[in-house]
Amino acid sequence: MRHLMHLAAIALVATACGGGGGESAADSSAAAASTEAAPAAAASFDPATITPAMLAQGDSLFHGLIGATSCQACHGADAAQGTVAPVLTDAEWLHSDGSWEGIYKTVQAGVSQPKKFTSMMPPDGGIPMTEEHRRAVTAYVYKLSHK
Ligand code: HEC
Repeated sequence: MRHLMHLAAIALVATACGGGGGESAADSSAAAASTEAAPAAAASFDPATITPAMLAQGDSLFHGLIGATSCQACHGADAAQGTVAPVLTDAEWLHSDGSWEGIYKTVQAGVSQPKKFTSMMPPDGGIPMTEEHRRAVTAYVYKLSHK
C-alpha cells in the first residue's frame, strides 16, 4: 500500500509540473469525481460512437493538459515509451483483450499486479476522473492501436 501511495505521489508531482498550476481546482474536481454515482453512462462501448471531441479531450487528459491525471508520466508522450509501463500503441495487451471496454476497465481499476513491469498503475492513473474523462481517455488510448 505504501508503494501505491508513492506511485500516486509521483503521478501527482508529474501532473503538477506538466499542468502548470490550478492544483486546488484539480483537487476539488477529483473529490467531485469520487462522489459521483455509479457509471450508468458506461453502457455503450461501440467504437463507432467515439467522436473527434472525445479524442481531443482524451489527448489532453493523457498528456496532463486538463484534468488531474497525466498518463504520459509513465507511458510516455507517444504512449510507446515502454520503460516503466506498457506500450499502448501495439496489439499486445497484458490486462484485457484491448477492446474499448477492456481498456476502460484497466484504466478504472489500475494495475495492482503488474505482469511485465515492476511498478503498478493506480486506479485512474492516480487521480479519480469523472466518467466523461475516463471514457475520453479510454477512447484516445483505444484509437492509438485501432486506426
Ligand atoms: C504511475 C505510472 C502509471 C500511470 C500514471 C499510468 N499508468 Fe497505465 N500502466 C502502468 C503500469 C505499470 C501498467 C501495467 C504494467 C504491467 O502489467 O507490467 C499499466 C497498464 C496500463 C494499461 C494496460 C495495458 C495492457 O497491456 O493491457 C492501460 C490501457 C493503461 N495503463 C492506460 C493508462 C492511462 C489511460 C493512464 C492515464 C489515465 C495511465 N495508464 C496512467 C503505469 C502507469
